[in-house]
Amino acid sequence: MLNAPIADAMQRYSDDRALAFHTPGHKQGLGAHQLLRRLITDEGLRQEVSLMDELDDLHDPRGIIDEAQQLAAQLWHADHALFFVNGTTSAVQTMIMSTVGEGDTVLVPRNAHRCVSNALILSGAKPVFLCPEFDHDFDIALNITPSTVEQAVEQFPNARALVITSPNYYGVPADLKSIAEIAHRHGMLLLVDEAHGAHLQFSARLPISAMDAGADIAAQSTHKLLGSLTQTSMLMINSARIDLERVRRVSSMLQSTSPNYLLLASLDIARLQMQSNGSTLIEQTIDRAQRLREAIRSISGLRLFETPSLDPTKITVDVRGLGLTGLEAEHILRHQLKIQCELSDPNNVLFLVTYADTQSTLDRLLDALKKLSSMGKATGGRAINRRSTAPLIIEPIITPRQAFYSSTTTVALRESIGRISAEEITFYPPGIPLICPGELITAELVDAIEENMSVGRRVVGAADKSMLTIRVI
Ligand SMILES: Cc1ncc(COP(=O)(O)O)c(C=O)c1O
Repeated sequence: MLNAPIADAMQRYSDDRALAFHTPGHKQGLGAHQLLRRLITDEGLRQEVSLMDELDDLHDPRGIIDEAQQLAAQLWHADHALFFVNGTTSAVQTMIMSTVGEGDTVLVPRNAHRCVSNALILSGAKPVFLCPEFDHDFDIALNITPSTVEQAVEQFPNARALVITSPNYYGVPADLKSIAEIAHRHGMLLLVDEAHGAHLQFSARLPISAMDAGADIAAQSTHKLLGSLTQTSMLMINSARIDLERVRRVSSMLQSTSPNYLLLASLDIARLQMQSNGSTLIEQTIDRAQRLREAIRSISGLRLFETPSLDPTKITVDVRGLGLTGLEAEHILRHQLKIQCELSDPNNVLFLVTYADTQSTLDRLLDALKKLSSMGKATGGRAINRRSTAPLIIEPIITPRQAFYSSTTTVALRESIGRISAEEITFYPPGIPLICPGELITAELVDAIEENMSVGRRVVGAADKSMLTIRVI
């Protein structure tokens, strides 16, 4: 019979009615404010406990957490799975810090999520950035090609590991099978940021999962596309090349000693849900997403982003044909048509279709897109080109860690050209760094920062949020 060991143990503890002389201070809801009560419910608060023997220890799992992690590993075709309650950020950082160290060269996609560049600071590794292919029409970064990887491993044969983000935010996968073959042929580890791929395992119509493609280790956001609570993720380990004890140690360094059991239980329950019904749910999701895609193709002024082997549940719509930027379209959708997208960029709006959608939620989205189309000005829009001419392989001048610990000074943005950046500058969405610490600031980069600011995107990581100045080494 299918079960959820963590949730079951929490229920048993709560049913046993032991009087609480332990954390948390609200004591199973006894002292909880009514607002917290309304938010979490009496039952949720009663079960919001931790540190009891029967609830096991995330930092040394031997009981129910170990059992739940093993069930997850089986389902996602891994040898081991570790649970994370500090986001995929901490899973990715564990993956990198446990496999590369001070001075090790690691090949990293230029458009990796900022948690990867922060992991480089933490680990002291020396990144070599690989540029993805670019769709110049939609202005969307695609993924790293096997030929770029081949070129990079020949140029840096002593690199210890290769990090790939697959699929990316827009659902574009890398050719992971070929890349795994190249990495292993050169004695390198393949690390995959699979934040957007926890659902891949459940349909042959989706890109191949990192574990099935032969990756050594992969970090998944269970919370992004499956049914666990925000902040919960898993690390999948599939190789004799990985030192499991080191991974466990780093995971323990980066996570709270008081992990929230509602979060842990939600990971276990998301696994149960997929184990019970995953294939049916995901196949149905793909069918619905395909029908929605078909309908969007005939809406005037909208263009659907399509590329071979795309995850079809990621629906990216170019709105330039309506004379709108992606941000303006997002605003109209949110405030007039009551639809909230996942992200917008200067040209596009991205909608996620997940197993939670029904025909009726997708019909509402379709209806809103038709209304948006009739509200647009149909001017053809304005194309904004990002850094599309970046070199294929970028070697920073100093490591991100050296940059982080160097003394710095602040200069006007335009005067920073030719200096080494001390900052990581990322625009949200989609949360990928434009520059990392240790890298040379170019005129092209300054243009890209100014363009992003001019379309009102939120900057993260910059000391000066107006971006009039920047910190340099
Ligand atoms: C590719 C990628 N990796 C990692 C992360 C970090 O995940 P989390 O927000 O769960 O920490 C994100 C978040 O958007 C992401 O898009």
